Amino acid sequence: MTALSGKTVLLIVGGGIAAYKCHELIRLLKTRGCRVRTILTRAAEEFVTPLSLASLSGEKVHTALFNLTDEVEMGHIELSRAADLLVVAPATADLLAKMAHGLADDLASTALLATDKPVLAAPAMNVRMWRHPATQRNVKVLDGDGIRFVGPNDGEMACGEFGPGRMAEPAEIVGAISSLLQPKDQPLAGRKVVITAGPTREPIDPVRFISNHSSGKQGYAIAAAAVALGAETVIVSGPVSLPIPPGAQVLRVETARDMLVACEDEMPCDIAIFAAAVADWRVDQIADQKMKKRRTGPPVLSLTENPDILKTIAGKTSKRPTIVVGFAAETEQVVANAQAKLKKKGCDLIVANDVAEGTGVFGGDRNTVHLVSRAGVESWPAMSKQDVSTKLMHRLVLMLRADDRKS
Ligand code: CTP
Repeated sequence: MTALSGKTVLLIVGGGIAAYKCHELIRLLKTRGCRVRTILTRAAEEFVTPLSLASLSGEKVHTALFNLTDEVEMGHIELSRAADLLVVAPATADLLAKMAHGLADDLASTALLATDKPVLAAPAMNVRMWRHPATQRNVKVLDGDGIRFVGPNDGEMACGEFGPGRMAEPAEIVGAISSLLQPKDQPLAGRKVVITAGPTREPIDPVRFISNHSSGKQGYAIAAAAVALGAETVIVSGPVSLPIPPGAQVLRVETARDMLVACEDEMPCDIAIFAAAVADWRVDQIADQKMKKRRTGPPVLSLTENPDILKTIAGKTSKRPTIVVGFAAETEQVVANAQAKLKKKGCDLIVANDVAEGTGVFGGDRNTVHLVSRAGVESWPAMSKQDVSTKLMHRLVLMLRADDRKS
């Protein structure tokens, strides 16, 4: 994955000889997984054709402002808002002047005025035009407006003169686009987070099993929050029917013992979060064949305790995660039970939630949690599982930083 994959760039091509470099720019952006939509000014159409850019980008190329079909399908405002970034290349003296003065007399300038997204300009013009006080004044105004620039570079111009005015090379423009689209708030970049989620399934015979109502939603939401903060995120997941959060890796398991093995394999990591509802027991003897009804009455299932995954990982002497977080699903004395669990399991934090009947936590979208650590108890108001996840991950970032300072 690059900073560009899945992003959309709206490329505005101005009318200058450097417009030919847009072919290479579009190609480079496309190979990095970026979607490129293009607007050509009328002058740009003299240098490159809508057909060539449409073939390269795989998208319709927009040229005129008052195109009724486009206004119905996608207005100029939508065109600029749907992009992650607007790139003006080449940004001619005329386009820069229009931008600096807020003119909007064609599709390109209207999209630039209507946008709420970052704008990157790659100026290209004759050296005298670039050095002209009017252009320098416009550049200063645009700089103050937050417009970013790449180039112009020094070099020989198409007109035979030498100096600043050459448009930056496509690879340089791609570099500038990447750094602008690089997510800023990624405190977990370079860190690994492992999360268990969902129920486990303990077979009785080839068609029956012991399990529980866990939906996995909380664990998957935590994974999405970890990805958003830049973490390498692994979900060790029991059987659930949830979409995989983009950017997370899912290891599917069935039983508690499989879940433990998968977790052990993923160690060490920075943060391990045990949100799975692990079946406490498994059947001693799994029947090879489907069990039949018998005259002697129903079978008696003899149960064995499953390994405690949280306790095992928290108790590791080597490869222990820096921070180990457990969940406590309780139906009574929620905080007191969670405090006991924190000690018993040897973890650093317990997220305790009330799963008593009527709270709708299992399978539902909301959760009311208490954070229990050695430092004390913090109770959060009821909120969506997404919000619990985001808040929790930010809290874990702080814990990780505190640990970094200690060591
Ligand atoms: N857990 C685990 N492995 C188990 C049982 C539980 O990793 N075999 C983890 C859960 O993922 C959760 C925490 O331990 O993070 C507490 O789970 P919970 O079911 O509330 O606790 P139990 O230890 O099963 O205690 P009890 O059911 O007796 O309350």
